[in-house]
Amino acid sequence: REKDFDGTYLYQYQEGFWYRPTYIVGILSAQRHFQARDDDIILITYPKSGTTWLKALTYAIVHRSHYAFEHSPLLTANPHELVPFIDHPAYYSENHCPRNLEHLPNSTHSIFGTHIPYPSIPRSIMNSNCRIVYMCRNPLDQFISYWHFMVKIAQDRETEPLSLEEALERVSHGIQGFGPSWEHVLGYWRASLENPNKILFLKYEDVMEDTLFYVKKMAEFLGCPFSSVEENQGVIEEISKLCSFENMKDLEVNKTGRLVPPGAPKNSFFFREGKVGDWTNYLTSPMLECLKNLMEEKFSGSGLTFRIT
Ligand code: A3P
Repeated sequence: REKDFDGTYLYQYQEGFWYRPTYIVGILSAQRHFQARDDDIILITYPKSGTTWLKALTYAIVHRSHYAFEHSPLLTANPHELVPFIDHPAYYSENHCPRNLEHLPNSTHSIFGTHIPYPSIPRSIMNSNCRIVYMCRNPLDQFISYWHFMVKIAQDRETEPLSLEEALERVSHGIQGFGPSWEHVLGYWRASLENPNKILFLKYEDVMEDTLFYVKKMAEFLGCPFSSVEENQGVIEEISKLCSFENMKDLEVNKTGRLVPPGAPKNSFFFREGKVGDWTNYLTSPMLECLKNLMEEKFSGSGLTFRIT
């Protein structure tokens, strides 16, 4: 066992990935109970790679004809409440399996999220015709974002977080919840190359740079493209604005709410800077060198590249 950045213990489980015990329970339960349907949408990320944003965008795209933007549930509920994790222990009780979580009204689609790595994904997800959208993030920003998140969790629970130096040492050995991060990303990257109609592979930085293009691309991939009338009415722009970091961060629910159960993160923890390149404010030259070497070693030859500006 090894410590995660917030000081709690991680254990190596299936295929050598690192998990908190509660996540192992969640994964096992999802593997046993989750039955994907052909029209389901599964959003997969490595933690701190834009999960909350991806959930908001997908929810807004899929439900755009059900709610006027000024009445969108995204204005009063955190995206994690609207798009449940299939493996999150918070959603399990003795009598509940994930399928019972369906609470998306007026829709044939069910949208779910997960951080489960490719080798452990419930079989029905790969065997059904459901679609997967995977979002990754450049490893430097992901690392800084994860560290800040874990510092907040530790402070909230009054435990001692690791320093940035200690955290980097862990990461260089792949030790992070759901890590090694490169195995996570590469698993879905390779699968998306093999099966591009099943998995849409996105990068946080690309979506940030041209949100309108990717909102359109996501809608097409998910089988609900925008009509020319919608395009002319500015629906794509509305979705982009509704889900923007600036808009979501300041919503009352995201400033003051907290996820279930007791002890789960405050909603505000999911909204910090929302920028590309914030790592420049934290990484020393040796730290940057270490992470760049790691990226070179792990990603070279895969065809997957990250722009480091
Ligand atoms: P930072 O810590 O760099 O600010 P996740 O949702 O996977 O937990 O990732 C959280 C990261 O995504 C945080 O990054 C957070 O600020 C950012 N984020 C949250 N909502 C966002 C949004 N609507 N648009 C862009 N980034 C967002």
